[in-house]
Amino acid sequence: MSYFCGLAVFVLAFSGGWCPCGADVGDFTPCLQFFYRSWPPKGLAGTPICQRYFNQYRFATLYSRPRRSPWFSAYLYTTPAGKRPSTSWKFEPQLAYPGADGNMIPFPPGPPDQNVVDSQAVELDYINSTYSRGHLNPSLHHQSHDDRSATFTLTNVAPQKAGSNDGPWEILEQTVNKTLYAYCLGEAYIVTGVIPYQTDEHWLKNHRVAVPEYLWSAYCCPSYNNSLPEKLRETFPTYAAVGRNDPNSTEEIVPVNKKAKKQFRGYDVRQMSLETLELYLKERFSTVVSVFYEQCSGSV
Ligand SMILES: *[C@@H]1O[C@H](CO)[C@@H](O)[C@H](O)[C@H]1NC(C)=O
Ligand SMILES: *[C@@H]1O[C@H](CO)[C@@H](O)[C@H](O)[C@H]1NC(C)=O
Ligand SMILES: *[C@@H]1O[C@H](CO)[C@@H](O)[C@H](O)[C@H]1NC(C)=O
Ligand SMILES: *[C@@H]1O[C@H](CO)[C@@H](O)[C@H](O)[C@H]1NC(C)=O
Repeated sequence: MSYFCGLAVFVLAFSGGWCPCGADVGDFTPCLQFFYRSWPPKGLAGTPICQRYFNQYRFATLYSRPRRSPWFSAYLYTTPAGKRPSTSWKFEPQLAYPGADGNMIPFPPGPPDQNVVDSQAVELDYINSTYSRGHLNPSLHHQSHDDRSATFTLTNVAPQKAGSNDGPWEILEQTVNKTLYAYCLGEAYIVTGVIPYQTDEHWLKNHRVAVPEYLWSAYCCPSYNNSLPEKLRETFPTYAAVGRNDPNSTEEIVPVNKKAKKQFRGYDVRQMSLETLELYLKERFSTVVSVFYEQCSGSV
């Protein structure tokens, strides 16, 4: 247990409060290493989860309990190796039982426990829906098998149309992989999140899990190779993107390429500066959203 956790236990034990530290929920303190300068994004409210698997922190998620889906996941990119693991989907016992162990665990066979169903999304929410399980922190941005497996928790997943998940959004993930692999010299911090519908919120069948209108992603690589090719000049130290998750959305944020293959049409991704992304986030969340400390420009 970290010093801060120990202190919180001590303080709360004497104030009669409940300490979320042991359960890795409610506080990013144990997993600040996944944020540039240990500084979680500002402006969004939700339940912090330090995503733990086999007793190691793997990444961090800001979860929305009412939406039963994440606002964002934050992680460190590591050069991928190996294939997408065949792994079972997991849940967070500590969302259902505050005293529970903070390690994510695979859904057991059979119907899940009612407290689990109430507190988070479960596999039945996605089965036979018209949405796939869209990883915010994707398995393909990780090296170790366990880091990859840990991304298969439903708290890291938002309902994403297959046309986005298997199309432009996947291409974005691959592009970011190639760019960071080739030119990022030190740590690369990535935050990937969702933008909800402004009105007329969309839900998966059963009205339990909210569907996002857009996905967004941004990286911060403070230390990079200065001999960048012309077309990548704008992409360091930080760059961002927004992807459509609904062909019916208007084109103000992301225009549609009408010539795209039919199954991917309307799911375009637009790459943009972090500044531009933050303008859209401000507009859509009606508050200032800051993804990285000093927009990733803070001197190291
Ligand atoms: C999903 O749909 C198929 C085909 O309609 C059906 O056989 C299956 O029982 C459904 N599964 C669930 C979990 O609803
Ligand atoms: C990620 O980038 C590395 C280096 O270019 C490459 O070997 C690997 O195939 C890429 N992985 C994916 C899934 O694009
Ligand atoms: C930086 O990029 C150039 C051009 O791609 C390459 O020749 C050089 O080896 C790279 N330097 C480092 C430190 O990776
Ligand atoms: C787009 O609009 C059409 C017609 O109103 C509707 O049938 C379809 O379900 C909508 N698509 C999405 C992803 O909401």
